[in-house]
Amino acid sequence: MRLSVIGCGYVGLVTGACLAEAGHEVVCTDIDRDRIAKLQAGGVPIYEEHLEEILASARKAGRISYTAVAGEAIRAGEAIFICVGTPPKESGEADLSAIDHVARQIAAEAKTPKLVIEKSTVPARTGLELSRALSAYSRNSNIKFRVASNPEFLREGTAVGDFFHPDRIVVGVEDPSSAAELREIYRPILEKSFRCPVHDGACPAGQKAEFLVTTISSAELIKHACNSFLALKISYANVIADLCEKIGANVEEVTRAMGLDPRIGGQFLNAGLGYGGFCFPKDVQAFIYLAAKVGVDFDILKAAERVNKQRIERFFEKIHQALWVVKGKRIAVLGLAFKANTDDIRFAPALEVVKGLLQEGAIVHTTDPEAMSRTKALFPELHYHEDPYDALRDADAALICTEWDSFRKLDWQRAGGLMARKLVIDGRNLYSPQEMRNLGFEYYSFGRE
Ligand code: UDX
Repeated sequence: MRLSVIGCGYVGLVTGACLAEAGHEVVCTDIDRDRIAKLQAGGVPIYEEHLEEILASARKAGRISYTAVAGEAIRAGEAIFICVGTPPKESGEADLSAIDHVARQIAAEAKTPKLVIEKSTVPARTGLELSRALSAYSRNSNIKFRVASNPEFLREGTAVGDFFHPDRIVVGVEDPSSAAELREIYRPILEKSFRCPVHDGACPAGQKAEFLVTTISSAELIKHACNSFLALKISYANVIADLCEKIGANVEEVTRAMGLDPRIGGQFLNAGLGYGGFCFPKDVQAFIYLAAKVGVDFDILKAAERVNKQRIERFFEKIHQALWVVKGKRIAVLGLAFKANTDDIRFAPALEVVKGLLQEGAIVHTTDPEAMSRTKALFPELHYHEDPYDALRDADAALICTEWDSFRKLDWQRAGGLMARKLVIDGRNLYSPQEMRNLGFEYYSFGRE
């Protein structure tokens, strides 16, 4: 099929690249001309595993192209995926101005009927407004627009794999023809009839994705309900960790036993610095805002958000307890990205930690496998090191802020020999307290003695 993708950020690029790799013809556009120029020149503006290779392969096959002229992209596709940003406003409400802008562009530029698909995370009822805007701004009443919601469940870092191997594909539609069209778009993925770059074509025979057809409002709600539930789960584990510290229990023992109950499940129960990124914080806020707007009490979600914010304070309590005075101390911050395997630092807990350390007058040395160049623009005053051992040299303390695998594998015997003081405050529970103590470290983590 011929498809258009509007917005070439994480969601748009992954969607466009994967749909092209699955056999469709995709035209992508973005208001950021530099981004389009880079993509046209064969560059990839974001780091995401496998993205570069599938973009190159789709480009070679002539199945993906880029244009800075929105009208060209809009006219090219039978179906249009809207993948623009919906950042939070001060109040927590999602800012839908980019969606509105795109809706008006589609209405003005389309010359044939289109299926317009919201892929960006939007609050419930956006589909109705989108529909209204499309007909209100259309210059030709003969052109019919159908609206659908097709939320993404992509995790940064594994987005390509998640796209090709989803647990479920949710399509919220207003008529059966839209559902049929979306099923056709996703047929290669549902039937696994594409060359999977993640498994080099030989995917393990796994469960097939469920194709769920719902109303548009349900589909919109599903995305927020999922992300908010996961955020709730993380905050729950974090409160359990606080309890463990007071009572003298071990959070890992507790959450492991909890996770073995299939009704609970073992994922997203890791205690530590809490969640960040561009999805969870904003989706939780937007869901709280939506609930309040329609008069529904969603206090449990407010509590989850409060618990998450308090993680930074709890981390600083540990820092003060361990280090006493922060001013003038040389501190190694290991990890800047909001989680492992991404260069994304948006709403990263690590940056809150860095901010606090600078305010208290620490000298901050840092390292991150992918996120340093982005952080440099925000915090030029930090000392950046490619090699973690250089960041740790002469440090009074090491703070672990991101769960990178490369940090799990650090040689702490060697690091201890380089540091001014053998002190590790671990915001991601990466190491065994006993092993660190055996190596002569003062070691602090969350919910473990
Ligand atoms: C999330 C959802 O998982 C995805 O389905 C949705 O489409 C977008 O939002 P992402 O933002 O990429 O994906 O991050 P995710 O892997 O879910 O992690 C979110 C945050 O939670 C990270 O900061 C991570 O460090 C933290 N986290 C995760 C914990 O603190 N504890 C855990 O147990 C799991």
